[in-house]
Amino acid sequence: MDTTATIWMPAGQSNFAGEVDPIFYFLLYASIILFLIVVGGTGYLVWKYRHTGKEIKTPGVSENLTLEFTWTIIPIIMVIVVFFWGFNVFMKMNIVPRDAYEIKVTGQKWFWSFDYPNGNSTVNELVIPEDKAVKLLMSSRDVIHSFFVPEFRVKMDVVPNRYSVIWFKALNPGTYNLFCTEFCGKGHSEMLGKVRVVTEREFEEWVEAGAGGGEGIPPSEYGAQLYKAKACNTCHSVDGSRVVGPSFKADFGGSRIIEGGQTVVIDENYIRESILNPQAKIAAGYDPVMPTYQGILKDKQIDALIAYIKSLSDNIEQEKAN
Ligand code: CUA
Repeated sequence: MDTTATIWMPAGQSNFAGEVDPIFYFLLYASIILFLIVVGGTGYLVWKYRHTGKEIKTPGVSENLTLEFTWTIIPIIMVIVVFFWGFNVFMKMNIVPRDAYEIKVTGQKWFWSFDYPNGNSTVNELVIPEDKAVKLLMSSRDVIHSFFVPEFRVKMDVVPNRYSVIWFKALNPGTYNLFCTEFCGKGHSEMLGKVRVVTEREFEEWVEAGAGGGEGIPPSEYGAQLYKAKACNTCHSVDGSRVVGPSFKADFGGSRIIEGGQTVVIDENYIRESILNPQAKIAAGYDPVMPTYQGILKDKQIDALIAYIKSLSDNIEQEKAN
């Protein structure tokens, strides 16, 4: 069931929203009410028995059974209700339907990649069919990340060396934000993705078409698309500014000093090696934090990225010439 947006949460867009939201609001409002009773009571007593200079004799209360039973039994009932209620929803979220469509999710510093059963793969964009159970089989290549789509009310840690699983049905076509909610280093706040929910028919077409092959456009333009689609932009600028890694607007054909003091020429092979085996030559003054794109980028895509980097450098030449 989908639910409406409030100041606390965006509108719920998955099968779980109708179950998660009531328990969330119950806990929220119960906490607010209990907070007001406890803090309000404390405040009232502090005020009532404040120091006035007059001598006030308080009555000697030894016990009040009615009051004691009340403040014991009501919270016990609430806690039991919340336990069974929450456990019931927890079980539903953890028992994956057998016919669920499985997508492999990989978290790494600092992007998400998604592998589909037919070999398609995308970066930072999860495309799923509406109203169909989707199972996400998730793992991390480095540190702990956490997969969170607020509209779907699903959140799960993505851990190295083991799989974690979540499933859900997205109810309405649209684009939803995906966040990493486990602090995973410098680029954590940039580790953002989109979940695009499409009709089942569109989804089948999309899967068959493959994840965008760059046909009919110049390699450098395809490279510019990949720069965003494959999340290079998280760590590399194209305007020369320093982010996590060196800017793509480098002096192609020129040289660069790497860690250890050697000098390398910025050419096709250097870029290719830096994409597939990023630790081989680290630009001096930068941290060795780039993950390998082995298995994520196809040869043609690497070619396109190189063409794109070259085209940025041509711009420099032109600027210089002008
Ligand atoms: Cu990945 Cu935070």
